[in-house]
Amino acid sequence: MTGATGDIGSALLTRLHASGVGPLRGLTRYASQAAIPEGVEAVEGDFADPASLKPALEGVRSLFLVSRLGPDAELLGAARQTGVEHVVLVSSITAETHPHLGPAAENLAVERSLKESGVDWTVLWPTQFASNTLMWAAAIRTGGTVRAPYQDTALPTVVHPADIASVARVALAEPGHRGRTYALTGPEPVNDRQQAEAIAAALGRKVPFAGIRRQQARAQLVAVFGEAVADALLDVTGGDVHDGLLAVRDTVARVTGGPARPFWQWGTENAAAFR
Ligand SMILES: NC(=O)c1ccc[n+]([C@@H]2O[C@H](COP(=O)([O-])OP(=O)(O)OC[C@H]3O[C@@H](n4cnc5c(N)ncnc54)[C@H](OP(=O)(O)O)[C@@H]3O)[C@@H](O)[C@H]2O)c1
Repeated sequence: MTGATGDIGSALLTRLHASGVGPLRGLTRYASQAAIPEGVEAVEGDFADPASLKPALEGVRSLFLVSRLGPDAELLGAARQTGVEHVVLVSSITAETHPHLGPAAENLAVERSLKESGVDWTVLWPTQFASNTLMWAAAIRTGGTVRAPYQDTALPTVVHPADIASVARVALAEPGHRGRTYALTGPEPVNDRQQAEAIAAALGRKVPFAGIRRQQARAQLVAVFGEAVADALLDVTGGDVHDGLLAVRDTVARVTGGPARPFWQWGTENAAAFR
C-alpha cells in the first residue's frame, strides 16, 4: 500500500486488516514514526528515490497506488517485474470531467501506463475530498472567518475518504472489479457554505463564512500550489462546473453495499481538528 499513512490509506489498511486480508505491507517515508496498524508491515520507501521502492514491492501481489506521489510509470514497470498481479489506482474524477487540465492530464498518463503495463487494474475516480476542508482548520480554531469562492456551488463532494477506502478494500479483496473504473462521489450535493455550517454544528458554535472573488482565492492558492494547479483547483471547485461534475454517482453504494457518507458525518468525526 502506498499512501499508507494518508487519509485513504490508513482507513484502507484498518479495513483490510480487520477483514483478515493479508499479509499487508504499508509504504511510508518514515517507518519508525509512522502510525501503521498493528500486524501490518511498515516498509520505508520514497517516490523521490525510486530505487527504494523496488525492495518494497518484493513479494507483493496486489498494489494500492495513490497517484502522482512520484514517477508512477517507473513504479508500475518495477511492479510488473516483481510479479504484482493487480493494481488499484487512486486517480481523480477530473480525468473524466476536466481532462484538459494539467493535474487531470497527469492522472490520465498514469492510467495509461497502468493499462499498458499488462498488470490487472482497477481505477478509482474520486471527486474532491471532505478532508480538503482541513485547510479551514486554522481559521476556525482561532475564531476567524472561512473565506471561499463559489460558496453557493453545490458539488457532490466525496464526503469521507473512508468511502474511497471501502471501495478500494472491495476492489482489492473481492473478485469482479478488475478492468473497472469507478467514479466516486458523496450522496448529495453540498456547497462550501453548507460544509462550514456542518462543521459549526459539530463544534456547537458559529463559524463565520464569507464569499470571496476567484482572484482573491487564486492569489492564496498560487502561493501554495503554483499557477497551473491553482487555476485547475478553482475550475473544478466552481469555475468550470458542468453536468459531469454535478452528477451524484451511486458507485459507493453499489460496490460496498452501504450508503456513501454525507459531509456532516465527516465533520462530526473530525470536529477535534477544528477546535
Ligand atoms: N484531495 C482531493 O480532493 C483529491 C481528489 C481526487 C484525487 N485525490 C488524490 O488522492 C490522493 C491523496 O490521498 P490521501 O488524501 O489519502 O493522501 P494524504 O492524506 O495527503 O497522505 C499522503 C500520503 O502519501 C505519502 N507520501 C507523500 N509523499 C511521498 C513520497 N515522496 N514517497 C512515498 N510516500 C509519500 C504519505 O506517506 P508518509 O508521509 O508516511 O511518507 C501519505 O501516506 C492523491 O493521489 C490525490 O491526487 C485527491
